Amino acid sequence: MSYKAVQKVRVKVPASTANLGPGFDSLGMALNLYAWIDLAISEQTTIDLIGDQMHGIPTDKTNLIYKVAQMVFQEAGVSHPELSISMYSDIPLTRGLGSSASAIVGALAGANALIGNKLTEYELFQIASRLEKHPDNVGASLYGGIVVAFWDGEKAESIRIEPDPNLEVLVAIPAFQLATEKARGVMPKQVAMKDAVFNLSHSSLLVAALITGNLGMIRHAMKDALHQPYRAPLIPGMKTLLEQAENHGALGVALSGAGPTMLALVDQRSGRKAELEGFLKETLAKEGIEAQTLWLKPSREGVTTTALQENDGDLQSFVDKEVHA
Ligand code: HSE
Repeated sequence: MSYKAVQKVRVKVPASTANLGPGFDSLGMALNLYAWIDLAISEQTTIDLIGDQMHGIPTDKTNLIYKVAQMVFQEAGVSHPELSISMYSDIPLTRGLGSSASAIVGALAGANALIGNKLTEYELFQIASRLEKHPDNVGASLYGGIVVAFWDGEKAESIRIEPDPNLEVLVAIPAFQLATEKARGVMPKQVAMKDAVFNLSHSSLLVAALITGNLGMIRHAMKDALHQPYRAPLIPGMKTLLEQAENHGALGVALSGAGPTMLALVDQRSGRKAELEGFLKETLAKEGIEAQTLWLKPSREGVTTTALQENDGDLQSFVDKEVHA
């Protein structure tokens, strides 16, 4: 990490899955699908969104990355009102893979790098959790790996777990978007004691299984009674996947974040990967849901920043040469 202020930085930030099974609002994992942001102190604000999927994202000072960067400057007591921002992302928007958390964390880390990392990672985590109101996506994008965390309305605390080297992730990303507010809106305000106990016991067991590398325990632990039953009607096929994916080679299956993406944990030594992928696709297709499947790995690394020099190419040429190479 650099402690010298720089004029321009390039940020690489991973996607994430939140609510890992029973870990509602508390258990996240970074995934090796990335967004890149170039951030520079400039004389006039410009915002350049690269790629097709950024339609509708503001390119003025209401842009999330611009606003979050300003929060960092304010917190650090410095002023840089004009920024030049470019962004490219492979993380699908509004699908439950932490695209907004990655933008927030990328902006925080990038702005902090510009001012010589005046704020600590812990301080960035506090700002990110305050903005998102749940710490699991932002914690994973910030620290990488698996993150166990809480946000109590005032502060966030977390511990990072190193992912088991055999852990692989299959996601099925439906072709429709689902806003987190809508998916939160279908949840009850209160839950029964038995459901609370169900989740706390399963979540504790899942964390213990992930720490000790007991992958066989995941199928018992990765169950949820707090949000998935209420959200299942929003995603046709989800109920079947939750009930049956483990019979087709998954270690465990869950809704990724607030959905609609479905996520299966898989042992990379499994001989049933094609069967599982087919099962996910066919189950969703039977319900008329078109979905893209992707094989991912946990991203061990969280957000990273690199100082750029005058003669470094722009983000578009980096994406063409390095990301799509
Ligand atoms: N934990 C959040 C929810 C998803 O389930 O509503 C992350 O945006």
